[in-house]
Amino acid sequence: MPKHIVRLVLILLATGVLAYAGKQLLTVKSFYQFGHYRGDSVAEIASDRPKFRTPKACEQCHAARYEEWAKGVHNNPGIGKVVKCEVCHGAASSRDSNPHGDNSATGTDHPDKLKLDIPTDTVRLCTQCHEQMPGRPAEQKQIVVATHAGDQQCKTCHNVHSPRTFVGALASTSRPGNAAAGKAIAADCAECHGKAGISDDAAIPSLAGQNETYLADAIKAYKKGSRKDATMSGMAKDLSDTAAENLAAYYASLQCKSTQNGDPKGAARGQTLAAQCVSCHGANGINKQAMWPSLAGQSKDYLLSALKSYKAERTNGMMNKVAKDLNDADAAALADYFANASCR
Ligand code: HEC
Ligand code: HEC
Ligand code: HEC
Ligand code: HEC
Ligand code: HEC
Ligand code: HEC
Repeated sequence: MPKHIVRLVLILLATGVLAYAGKQLLTVKSFYQFGHYRGDSVAEIASDRPKFRTPKACEQCHAARYEEWAKGVHNNPGIGKVVKCEVCHGAASSRDSNPHGDNSATGTDHPDKLKLDIPTDTVRLCTQCHEQMPGRPAEQKQIVVATHAGDQQCKTCHNVHSPRTFVGALASTSRPGNAAAGKAIAADCAECHGKAGISDDAAIPSLAGQNETYLADAIKAYKKGSRKDATMSGMAKDLSDTAAENLAAYYASLQCKSTQNGDPKGAARGQTLAAQCVSCHGANGINKQAMWPSLAGQSKDYLLSALKSYKAERTNGMMNKVAKDLNDADAAALADYFANASCR
């Protein structure tokens, strides 16, 4: 055999012996017992204290938040989609930071010593899961932040513990009314709002097909004085809350009719400007959110006067800000666009 082959064989043998000796001497016994890791680590990890305590652990002390959360959209164990308390608030237990990784059973606990995080920037928190991006599963509802919320915090509208419940200006106390009972007392309203809820007078809003909750809240607002109008304040004064809800149910059940009294040139310009409105008023001015009004179906005149009044006396957290930023020409173009939009 040539010398260099002998040397090669010797080197290979020596490497094999060294590798075997290394495995025997340098790795722990339980290595490869179950797979490519230490078998003992399973028992060690099991004896570690859990960092995450799961929502059940929070219930005893935070019953109210737990209740809201448990009934909310973030708790859907049926399809395995559960956003647990500790996803947003951080782990409720810690382990001590022992650099040798020995069993670390002496960390701190919430509420004893360990403070949990209260997320202040909900835009950052919620968009981690809800911002629209390619490849994200559609079942996890996605939004385009710029058109959905602008620069507002998610928590100004969504209850963080039950996001399908709305808060602040979005919360409504109105319950569904009885349309038949509403029809019976609607005669007084027909004079101005039209027989079938479609107003002939461009200065007066149509009510037909408008969102029920919005209508009920509007009548109650005139009654309480939080929305003022010379005629409507008087009309609403003597209506009970139930009557308001019944009238709202009646008018919401009627077919709307688009006024089409906008100027087509203005409408074309209004269409581009309307991008800032659709997140709240729906595509083309038809709103699916019950608490907020649809704009399609109203006349140019009424829409414009409403926008003007949000700059002065009519108060609403959301619309006051929107209206303040609109100049007269833009407001008119928007009114043209929504007046010409089909309401169905
Ligand atoms: C043994 C009762 C108890 C349990 C269990 C408990 N908490 Fe608390 N939690 C408290 C108390 C008491 C405070 C108020 C602490 C303070 O103000 O110093 C608090 C405060 C908080 C706060 C406000 C931030 C802070 O640390 O002050 C958050 C958030 C919170 N808890 C979330 C949770 C979550 C999530 C769980 C379940 C993993 C949970 N808590 C379990 C008693 C409890
Ligand atoms: C999707 C994220 C999210 C989940 C899940 C969540 N929280 Fe919260 N929680 C928040 C945010 C954001 C705030 C701050 C709200 C605010 O500033 O108005 C908060 C506030 C709190 C507070 C009040 C802190 C304070 O003193 O202001 C408590 C207590 C709390 N959460 C407990 C819980 C418990 C218990 C659970 C589970 C049952 C839970 N949270 C699940 C996001 C979440
Ligand atoms: C860890 C990821 C995660 C975080 C953080 C999170 N969500 Fe969710 N959210 C989900 C998932 C998953 C669902 C869907 C649950 C289901 O399919 O039933 C959901 C559902 C919702 C829904 C209901 C959508 C529908 O089906 O109508 C709303 C609204 C919502 N989240 C808002 C929020 C808000 C507001 C925040 C911040 C306070 C937030 N989410 C934080 C994962 C998250
Ligand atoms: C101005 C109020 C407002 C703000 C701010 C807001 N939302 Fe919403 N959001 C709503 C309303 C109203 C709906 C319900 C729309 C509907 O039912 O069509 C909604 C629906 C959603 C949905 C469900 C969408 C769907 O397709 O069903 C998600 C997810 C959501 N919001 C996440 C967020 C997140 C994340 C933020 C913060 C970046 C946020 N929202 C800020 C008002 C708001
Ligand atoms: C004398 C005329 C008149 C009568 C009668 C009248 N309304 Fe009105 N209504 C108006 C005017 C004008 C407005 C617009 C006021 C404003 O700009 O706030 C209005 C506004 C409304 C609104 C708000 C619509 C919106 O889009 O915001 C509702 C809801 C409403 N009326 C319901 C009723 C009901 C219900 C009745 C019968 C009980 C009634 N109105 C009787 C003139 C009338
Ligand atoms: C952040 C959500 C939001 C945005 C964005 C928004 N609106 Fe509104 N808008 C509302 C709410 C809420 C109301 C009902 C307020 C009330 O009860 O007075 C409303 C009411 C109105 C009304 C009165 C309707 C009536 O029947 O009386 C008009 C007109 C209107 N909005 C126009 C617009 C226009 C035009 C834009 C875009 C430039 C816009 N809004 C953007 C939330 C919004």
